Amino acid sequence: MSLILAFESSADETSVAVVKDGDTILSNEIATQIKSHQRFGGIVPEVASRHHIERVTILVDEALADAGVTFADIDAVAVTYGPGLVGSLLIGLTAAKTIAWAHNLPLVPTSHLAGHIMAARFVKPIEYPALALLVSGGHTELVYIPAEGVFQVLGETRDDAAGESYDKVGRVMGIKYPAGKTIDEMAHLGNDTFKFPRAMEKDDTYDFSFSGLKSAFINTFHNAEQRDEVLNHNDLATSFQNAVVDVLVEKTVKALREHPVKQLLLGGGVAANSGLRAALADALAQFPDTEFVPVPLKLAGDNAAMIGAAGEIFWRQGRRGSWDLNADPSLEF
Ligand code: KG4
Ligand code: ZN
Repeated sequence: MSLILAFESSADETSVAVVKDGDTILSNEIATQIKSHQRFGGIVPEVASRHHIERVTILVDEALADAGVTFADIDAVAVTYGPGLVGSLLIGLTAAKTIAWAHNLPLVPTSHLAGHIMAARFVKPIEYPALALLVSGGHTELVYIPAEGVFQVLGETRDDAAGESYDKVGRVMGIKYPAGKTIDEMAHLGNDTFKFPRAMEKDDTYDFSFSGLKSAFINTFHNAEQRDEVLNHNDLATSFQNAVVDVLVEKTVKALREHPVKQLLLGGGVAANSGLRAALADALAQFPDTEFVPVPLKLAGDNAAMIGAAGEIFWRQGRRGSWDLNADPSLEF
């Protein structure tokens, strides 16, 4: 049996978790700062770092207590060292290093993206090769995983991430940050009347682009305002969500055709999207040998348990961080 103490602080959630064997959560403490950032319409890096400092040591105590373990039971410390906001990453990284050093434990540098994908381990064992669709506020990528711990990016967004585009159009409609969940709920109440563009849907790459969709949405909204016309927000939400989901599903299907896999993993904050989950489940009917493994709703957003799930793999594979390990804001895997 192994116990990993995991840290996540890449954006606006401070989180510490204890994970057993990489696939069982003993505790997963998450302190969200959303309220502090809401009035700015997005994350303010300096504010985020300060909140991480205030919370991280308290969360360590809570994570150990909730798991019913002490430092003496822990085998390794896994920590997100990128990608993310450098000031935020440094808080979790410094806390993790300090604890690892003080308790003579190995430090396991872990990618936030690997964490989002490996959260699928809490659903069931991952079978390889696998494909992952990673959709979050900062990333939109299709990742081929030929074997445990190996991540090959097939394609990614060339501009905005899917979650970012939700948040930006949400802001135009006056929806509080982060807007994804609210737009998802509204999308069930409207009709696809606007037929927004689906950029790069049929092209030859696995890349995505969401900035044109965002602009089309904002132009539609403001043009109507100038005519003193109020558009139906639910219809806007439905039309927007359909456009996002169509492109994500189309590219995922293309990747599955060209890279047959045993499982399709879905991770990242936007993995909570009900339209996306339903559309991918439907599309998978064409691939009877591929099992759909979306991460559980409550583990789609940022949390440290997912870092424990990925970190346990890297720890077993012998990856170790030195005491001079630095944060890497643009790390991939
Ligand atoms: O993974 P995450 O918690 O943080 C990053 O690593 O970016 O993702 C946050 C993003 C936000 O943009 C938020 O609006 C989006 O996930 N999100 C959703 C939904 N729930 C959260 N987007 C669409 N539909 C949802 N249900
Ligand atoms: Zn994330």
